[in-house]
Amino acid sequence: MEMSSLMEIDGALGSLTPPMPSKLKGKSIAALTPDGKSAPWVEKYRPQSLDDVAAHRDIVDTIDRLTNENKLPHLLLYGPPGTGKTSTILAVARKLYGSQYKNMILELNASDDRGIGVVRQQIQDFASTHSFGAKSSIKLVLLDESDAMTKEAQFALRRVIERYTKSTRFALICNHVNKIIPALQSRCTRFRFAPLDSTHVRDRLHHVIQAEGLDINDDGLSAVVRLSNGDMRKALNILQSTHMASPHVTEDAVYLCTGNPLPKDIEQISHWLLNESFTAGFKYISEIKMRKGLALVDIVREVTLFIFNIKMPADVRIQLINDLADIEYRLSFGCNDKLQLGSLISTFTNARCALVAAVK
Ligand SMILES: Nc1ncnc2c1ncn2[C@@H]1O[C@H](COP(=O)(O)OP(=O)(O)O)[C@@H](O)[C@H]1O
Ligand SMILES: [Mg+2]
Repeated sequence: MEMSSLMEIDGALGSLTPPMPSKLKGKSIAALTPDGKSAPWVEKYRPQSLDDVAAHRDIVDTIDRLTNENKLPHLLLYGPPGTGKTSTILAVARKLYGSQYKNMILELNASDDRGIGVVRQQIQDFASTHSFGAKSSIKLVLLDESDAMTKEAQFALRRVIERYTKSTRFALICNHVNKIIPALQSRCTRFRFAPLDSTHVRDRLHHVIQAEGLDINDDGLSAVVRLSNGDMRKALNILQSTHMASPHVTEDAVYLCTGNPLPKDIEQISHWLLNESFTAGFKYISEIKMRKGLALVDIVREVTLFIFNIKMPADVRIQLINDLADIEYRLSFGCNDKLQLGSLISTFTNARCALVAAVK
């Protein structure tokens, strides 16, 4: 993997014309660092070609076919973070233009100013100039995180897209498709990138684990997959930070490194909540919170998931979950942790009373 990206950079350097730094942006720099250890894995293992993109086979194959037939439409890729949207477009660009791809695409993301002025100036300038030298003469404008564009800019873009359709394709990427005005949506072919399912995350992680020669056990890998929730970027970041923190990547190390409460701690806390008296419960939970540095909001979230799996009458469950939601809401405003812990225990005390009453 690293080898091939190095060779590609070599190729790019061979045909290099003066403004060198721009060619060495992003992943190229990462791959060029001497030991490769400091490179973030999300960049080091970004899929280089469409074949490398895990999951979304149907979408990727469709885009691949359209690219081959030179019929690429304007694209709108949307979905949660870390699912391969940017990588897919960059792979398309690489396929279309080879190593010259940086010259043929205009890439704007949320950190660039993308008000109406930019749409009028920069995008139009790029779209209206002629290009030569690359395999395909169609240029690509990549608008990453386009849901952050102002409405005015989107309206202006609508016109620009139509005017330059002959020479330019637009690829819009966003998390929330409903923040893109309908007029733009209808000009693009929409593809939704769903969160990766766990087998794909696992496969991709396996690839990285082998390439890096990591010492990781099955439980550790499962923990990374579980905590990533289908976000591949998150999965790679968790894996890398855990690997840096401890030589053996185990379940405990993963949870510790990300600051998430361990499943067995949550089980223990739930047990206390369901069985201990108020004072004892308060004491035990405060103590484990201190010792392991847990945040109450994480505890509440995980305990909620835990009690979803416990059998109890519907009305008790509804009340309990409603109360837990209230606690989580208050915690998001930064309310006092001790008081909210008291509230958490009271909530469970109420639920226990209701359970006893239901049995009678
Ligand atoms: N489908 C995928 N297949 C392989 N790697 C992926 C995939 N999705 C995300 N990744 C990894 O996560 C990182 C971020 O992906 P990116 O395409 O930037 O996500 P998005 O743009 O959807 O937020 C990539 O560098 C890559 O390492
Ligand atoms: Mg992206």
